Amino acid sequence: MSRRKQVYEGKAKVLFEGPEPGTLVQYFKDDASAFNNRKRGVITGKGVLNNRISEFLMLRLAEIGIPTHFVRRLNMREQLVRQVEIIPIEVVVRNVVAGSLARNLGIAEGTPLQRSIVEYYYKNDALGDPLVSEEHITAFGWATTHDLDEIMQMSLRTNDFLSGLFLGIGLKLVDFKLEFGRLYNHNDEMRLVLADEISPDNCRLWDIKTNEKMDKDRFRQDLGRVEEAYQEVARRLGILPEGGPGDVKAPSTVQ
Ligand SMILES: Nc1ncnc2c1ncn2[C@@H]1O[C@H](COP(=O)(O)OP(=O)(O)OP(=O)(O)O)[C@@H](O)[C@H]1O
Ligand SMILES: [Mg+2]
Repeated sequence: MSRRKQVYEGKAKVLFEGPEPGTLVQYFKDDASAFNNRKRGVITGKGVLNNRISEFLMLRLAEIGIPTHFVRRLNMREQLVRQVEIIPIEVVVRNVVAGSLARNLGIAEGTPLQRSIVEYYYKNDALGDPLVSEEHITAFGWATTHDLDEIMQMSLRTNDFLSGLFLGIGLKLVDFKLEFGRLYNHNDEMRLVLADEISPDNCRLWDIKTNEKMDKDRFRQDLGRVEEAYQEVARRLGILPEGGPGDVKAPSTVQ
C-alpha cells in the first residue's frame, strides 16, 4: 500500500495514484458513515463486497453504452479507474419515497412515485450536501445545461436498467446516488462518465416480497444484520467472493 501515493481519503474509500497517468486506484474501506458523518461505524467486509458489486454494475452499464470510469478490479479491495474531474453534484434518482424525501416533505416512506424523480445535491460536506436546482448548478458554473441534459439521460437510463436488473433478483431499487466526472481524450475533447461507486452504500434496495431493507439504511437505522444484507445483495448478483462469505471478513488477509 505504501508504494503508492495517496491522493485522497474519503469516508468510504481511499484514492491512490494509479500505475499510469490519468488513472487512480480506488481502495474500498469497511468504514461506514451516515447523516453527514455524524454517525460512524464499521461494516465488516463491506469494502470487499462494494468493490465487487460496483465492478459488476459498472460493467453491465458499460455493456449498454453508459460510459464509466471503471477499468478493472485489481484485488479484493481495489479497482483501477480513470481519473476524472468530479462534477460537484450528487445525482439522486428515486422510484419510491424514502429517506430525506419522506422526512422533508412528510410523505410516507414506501409511497411509490408515478414518475421517477431526479434530484441534485451540491457535493459539499461542510454545508451538508444541500439540495440544489438546475438553476443553481448552471448559475454557479458547476455544470452546463448541456452537461445536465446528458447527466439526466444517463441517470434515467441507469435507473431503468438497474431497476430491471435488481427486480430480476427480487430487489426493488427504491433510490440511488450517482456521481459524474469529466474525462478528456488526447484531443482535449470532454466526455461525461459515471464515476465513484454503485453499491448498497448509495442505493436503497428492498426485498420485493418482504420489503426488508438490504442496504446502508440497516446501518443508519440500527436494524442489525448489516453485513448479511450486503452479502445477500452480492449473493443474489452471483458475485460473492470465491471463498464465500468467510472471504470478506478479514481485511489483513485479502490485500
Ligand atoms: N474516477 C474518479 N476520479 C476522481 N475522483 C473520483 C473518481 N471516482 C470517485 N471519485 C471521488 O473519490 C472520492 C471517493 O471517496 P469516498 O466515497 O470515501 O468520499 P466521501 O467521503 O463520500 O467524500 P465526498 O464528499 O468527497 O464524496 C469522492 O470524493 C469521489 O467524488
Ligand atoms: Mg462517497
